[in-house]
Amino acid sequence: MYNDNPTLEGIDKKVDESKQGEVFFQENASEKGKKFYIESYGCQMNFSDSEIVASILGESGFSPTRNMEESDLILINTCSIREKAELTVRKRLRIFDKVKRQRPGMLVGVLGCMAERLKTKFLDEEKLVDIVVGPDAYRDLPGLVAGAEEGNKGVNVFLSREETYADISPMRLDSNGVSAFISIMRGCDNMCSFCVVPYTRGRERSRNAFTIVAEATNLWERGYKEVTLLGQNVDSFKWENPETGKVVNFAELLIMVAEVSPDMRVRFSTSHPKDITDDVLYAIRDHENICNYIHLPVQSGNSRVLKLMNRTYDRPWYDAKVKRIYEIIPDCAISSDIITGFCTETEEEHQDSLSVIEFARYSMSYMFFYSERPGTLAARKYEDDIPLATKKRRLTEIIELQNQISKEENAKDVGKTFKVLIEGDSKKSDQDFKGRNSQNKMCIFPKKAGLKKGDYTYVKILESNSATLKGEIV
Ligand code: SAH
Ligand code: SF4
Ligand code: F3S
Repeated sequence: MYNDNPTLEGIDKKVDESKQGEVFFQENASEKGKKFYIESYGCQMNFSDSEIVASILGESGFSPTRNMEESDLILINTCSIREKAELTVRKRLRIFDKVKRQRPGMLVGVLGCMAERLKTKFLDEEKLVDIVVGPDAYRDLPGLVAGAEEGNKGVNVFLSREETYADISPMRLDSNGVSAFISIMRGCDNMCSFCVVPYTRGRERSRNAFTIVAEATNLWERGYKEVTLLGQNVDSFKWENPETGKVVNFAELLIMVAEVSPDMRVRFSTSHPKDITDDVLYAIRDHENICNYIHLPVQSGNSRVLKLMNRTYDRPWYDAKVKRIYEIIPDCAISSDIITGFCTETEEEHQDSLSVIEFARYSMSYMFFYSERPGTLAARKYEDDIPLATKKRRLTEIIELQNQISKEENAKDVGKTFKVLIEGDSKKSDQDFKGRNSQNKMCIFPKKAGLKKGDYTYVKILESNSATLKGEIV
């Protein structure tokens, strides 16, 4: 899910492509009034937040543009997860500065996790930044912009215990019209020792379940066919109805959303292995439209390293969870996040991360080498002692094995027929459609008259590689 590489081309918000710089646009954006341009980096939550920001700015008279040269306000929604993510943002700020010099009066705002982490430091270090807004302060954006227009640089990085933007209907400007993200919670109460998110996103809070169902219903009525429920740890979703006192947990929420329509697919991300319950697995098994795909990041395959990472499960516990998933949902695909070269990780312990890939038979993984983040538990307690070359070599080994496993798993799909939701033309040819099966695997197949983006079709798989399945409509 996490690519620190910037590109302005990625306007397709699917899971494996969504970590790229992204521009919102609207074909018929109002010619009058002020325009904003926004780029997003980091996780899906950040992309989803940009849609909230777009909505808030829309309410105050700004319209989005894809062209930064014609904008009055450039916003960059930033990520702090690894050092590289932050370096990318700093590079973009240099580029914005050049544009700004050509357009007097133009403002530049930094949003998101890096804004939260660096706070006022941004204004001191980066003279080109006018506004700094943390993830819980987006409602204040119009006010801060107005202040900055008067020459008062503005910062709001207040982290809230309540804010969920529950009442804001996100502006889906860049969407393919088929799938959309719905934020169901914010923040994170886990303290994984390597992770900056609890510091940049604050305490975990769940959104009003009825507003989530209302958003899903609205999307369905507008023709969307797939929603992805988003949170750093969706399995700990817990919302108490203030009127009845009844608590809605994640399994119940999944079912409520699945019942919006049997023809609307429901996905979710991310699941923490310690919190995913059998009830969630039964909900997936019992509802055809809740997709058979779980992103279950392991981080490391070794119990001692997991303890240092403060993941609160060990290897046998994780393996048992994987077994349970395949027991209840035999055709489930599982994917993962893995970090190599965490503090003190030995070669034997690295071998355990290789073996968990074999054991879990992940359909795919997002893999990273450890990047120390200032202020985290690991940065304070442990020495970042694995040489970069070793971290990278271990990462290469992990990637090679994962590719091999993905290839083997995809090869098992040859000959099978899947229900696929058509997302549009394949990247390589407008003669082919692309779409995903329930397991979240990308399928490519020749078009057939009468079928269009947003339709379901059945595809028989004829060939495969480590990334895609190719087939024909049956
Ligand atoms: N909430 C999700 C993950 C959010 S961060 C979860 O708990 O799984 C996304 C991924 O970035 C993490 O799963 C982890 O693999 C990676 N990551 C986080 N901090 C990192 C760091 N300091 N160095 C390298 N990778 C990191
Ligand atoms: Fe970070 Fe852990 Fe929270 Fe995920 S669960 S966001 S890795 S602290
Ligand atoms: Fe990055 Fe913040 Fe998401 S640090 S991964 S944008 S929560």
